This record gives sequence, structure tokens and C-alpha cells, in this order.
Amino acid sequence: TQPSLKQTFRNDFLIGTALNPAQIMEKDTASARLVLQHFNAITPENSMKATHLHPERDKYNFTVADQLVDYGKKHHIKINGHTLIWHSQLPNYVRKMNNADSLRQYMKDHITTVAGRYKGKVFSWDVVNEALADDGTLRKSVFLQLLGEEYIVEAFRLAQAAAPDAELYYNDYNIEQPKKRAGAIALIKKIQAAGVKIDGVGIQGHWRASHIPLTAIEQSIEEFSALGIKVMFTELDLTVLPNPFRGDNADVSARTANSTNELNPYPAGLPDSVQATLSKGYEDLFKLFLQYKDKVSRITFWGVHDGQSWLNHFPVRNRTNYPLLFDRNYQPKPAFYAVVKLK
Ligand code: XIL
Repeated sequence: TQPSLKQTFRNDFLIGTALNPAQIMEKDTASARLVLQHFNAITPENSMKATHLHPERDKYNFTVADQLVDYGKKHHIKINGHTLIWHSQLPNYVRKMNNADSLRQYMKDHITTVAGRYKGKVFSWDVVNEALADDGTLRKSVFLQLLGEEYIVEAFRLAQAAAPDAELYYNDYNIEQPKKRAGAIALIKKIQAAGVKIDGVGIQGHWRASHIPLTAIEQSIEEFSALGIKVMFTELDLTVLPNPFRGDNADVSARTANSTNELNPYPAGLPDSVQATLSKGYEDLFKLFLQYKDKVSRITFWGVHDGQSWLNHFPVRNRTNYPLLFDRNYQPKPAFYAVVKLK
């Protein structure tokens, strides 16, 4: 029988997945089966983001998020709340605020209400997501523009007050890269120096299967854990498709690939060589994670199976991507076996 990821790595780290409520409902029993068999942590893929939870100033929609939280409780799966403060998937009434007092009030209401509602039910929170730019300076979001850099410490302070038992994390992409990593370390030190709690850092882990920055990842695990916090890989997926907005393909301007072309080279399945690259990528990563299992507390995949990965629609729509361990037919891929055989 098929090995279980969470069983395989039970003495090493939690194994998580991003999840949407549809995947645990009657509609998609095949996904639900994989979730229960393989994962012991869930990050709601979208349902706890501000646009979903708090679409208008005085209106909250908790129905969908509640379903995921109840599901986690029922099946003893840890829920990582994602995310309290983020510049993206942020409703317009917040984006368009133009004075500090309103935004400060929004932050207070939002964090207190959301983290408070799930107090004791959500194991951890991505309190602040993607606050840094690639050069390591703070991203010029509405939060930075109106409140200054203090907003980050304040967000953690509010989360701690609302959900004192929840672990609190900073989450971002590319923070394994030296410049951005330095920015993240400075930000974490600032939170700690203010006497505010931060329990961990999430490195998203949206990498290219053929270009995994292993050295930078290893250095990041060492440097972040030296701050006395947990390190997690929180949105792991490995794309096998070209990014037309970067490097060699920067001249390609189409945002939609709707037929077999250079933007969607493998609509009918992965060639063996690319499959092998993907397996090797996952194997290298998990070797490193196992080497640092005392510092790495959770590995979360950004999706259950290839068919519902966001990378079929980002940064180009309507493609056929293969970034996860399970394929479109819910079957484990060679990359799955490459990972479990390490134990
Ligand atoms: C993505 C979701 O997967 C998509 O369904 C949604 O349309 C956009 O957001 N970094 C994050 C995640 O922190 O919340 C993002 O999730 C992917 C990038």
C-alpha cells in the first residue's frame, strides 16, 4: 500500500497542504482522501484572506473559514491561519484608505476579530505576509505608507493579544535569497526587541524544479533558527513551466496560454526528463530538510494535487503545470517516491 507522507515524516516535521473547502466536501472525495491520508497540517489557500473574510469594513464572512477550522478539529489536523496582514487580496476599502487612523483602526478590528474568533482553534497564524521587497527593504504597501514600519510589530502585538496560545509567524517568498533574507532577519529582530512574540518564519518555497537555491536555503535555515525561532517551508511547489516575465522569456507578453505553445509545453503529460528533474528537485530538498529536522518544523505543499495548483494559472493563465507530489488523477508521482524513500 501507498506510504503516508505524514507517517513517513512523523518524527521529523509536520506535512501540510493548502486547502479549499471544496476539496473536503462531497464534491471532491478523492482530494479529501489524500488530505486525511497524507497531511497533518492545513493552510487555507484563500478563505482566511481579507477579501474573503472581511470584504467590507463592517462585514465579516466566516462561514467558509469555519468549515476548514471545524474539519481540522475533527481530524486532529493543525490549522495555520493565512494571513492577517498582506498587501494582496486586500479589499478596496482598505487599499484606498488615506489616513493613518482609519488604517490603524482596520488593523485592530481585523486582527482582534479574526484571530480572536479562532482563538484556541487555530494552531498558528501567518501574521504578516510578504512585507518585504526583493532588495530587502520594506514593500511600499498601504500599511507602510500610512503607518510606517511600526505596523509590523503592531500586527504581531495585536495577534498575540487576541490569540495568546497561537504560534505567530512571518511569511514571505524569496527570503532565502541573501538580500531579502537580511531584511527578514532585521524585521524579526525588531519584533523581538520590542518584546513582542514571534515563533517562526515561513519560507514560501515557490521554486523552479530545475533551479532550487539549495545553498541559500541551507544558510537561511541556519540564520533564521539562530534567532531562536522555528523555520517552515510553507507554500512548497516546484514549477516546470517557463516564466515569461523573467529572464530568457521576458519578451513574451501573452498572459494566456490556450493552446500547445512555448508557454504550455506539456499539456498531455511530462516527458521523462522533466519528471526526473522534478523528482530530483524534491529529493534534494527533502534531504536538506531531514538534515535540519531539528530546526524545520513544517513542510506545507501549496495544494493537494497538480490539477488544482494555483500554478496552472500563475503567472500565465490556463496552463498545465506539474508542481506537486500527486498528479491530476490523485496518484503519487515519481517525486513522491523519491521523497518517501529517503526514510
Ligand atoms: C494564491 C492562491 O493559491 C490562489 O488561489 C490565489 O488566487 C492567489 O493567492 N503567496 C501566498 C499565497 O502567500 O497566499 C498565494 O496564494 C500564493 C503566493
